[in-house]
Amino acid sequence: MNSQKRYSLFAKFYDVIILRLFGYEIAANYFVEQLPFNTNDKIDVLDAGAGTGLYSFAILKRFPNAKIEAFDLNEELLAKFRIKVRQKELSNSINIFIGDILSPFSQNKQFDLIITGGVLEHVDINKAIKNLSQYIKTGGYFLNAGVKNNLIGKTVGGIWHIHTFSKEKVISAFLSYNLSAVKYLLLPGKYFFIGLVKEAYIFKKL
Ligand SMILES: C[S@@+](CC[C@H](N)C(=O)[O-])C[C@H]1O[C@@H](n2cnc3c(N)ncnc32)[C@H](O)[C@@H]1O
Repeated sequence: MNSQKRYSLFAKFYDVIILRLFGYEIAANYFVEQLPFNTNDKIDVLDAGAGTGLYSFAILKRFPNAKIEAFDLNEELLAKFRIKVRQKELSNSINIFIGDILSPFSQNKQFDLIITGGVLEHVDINKAIKNLSQYIKTGGYFLNAGVKNNLIGKTVGGIWHIHTFSKEKVISAFLSYNLSAVKYLLLPGKYFFIGLVKEAYIFKKL
């Protein structure tokens, strides 16, 4: 079974099991809090591989004036995301569309921030960064929240058939497209369990 079929199968339970129970929501809120913007900034954000919108909602919690474009390959996850956007009355702040992280999309726009949460692990990382880097403003930021390349991360990766990458590999892949690492983020000790698996980087477009 490929990963898209797995996500479709899990779409119903994704929010409860992955985001709540496993602590991904806590991790997302923490990583977003580390971004170098002011609370009231009107930032344009691209949530690439948005799933059910975990990072889009974390962004609006921290930066309520943000405008978000969010896309994913998986229609089932996006359907759940759309329902939540309507329920939370956030249609003016979030626009959702189907898209592939590896292919240019029609939006002829540049963003202050691009986010990939657990997405680069599914694809050719160089191709994805090459494609996405054209959509960041000079001086803009890229938050990549990924799976750690340790024993636990590799085990999770094995179960989900995804890659994990060393720190060196991630940093050099981003640097190839003029994105320089400004922060490496680990979760504080109080988030021990999710901290075993998740890490994040903030890059800045030179
Ligand atoms: C682990 S989930 C993360 C979803 C969301 N970012 C989050 O943190 O909850 C990985 C997501 O990447 C999406 N994905 C995988 N390959 C993709 C591609 N080539 N283009 C766009 N999205 C993709 C999947 O459909 C899935 O929604």
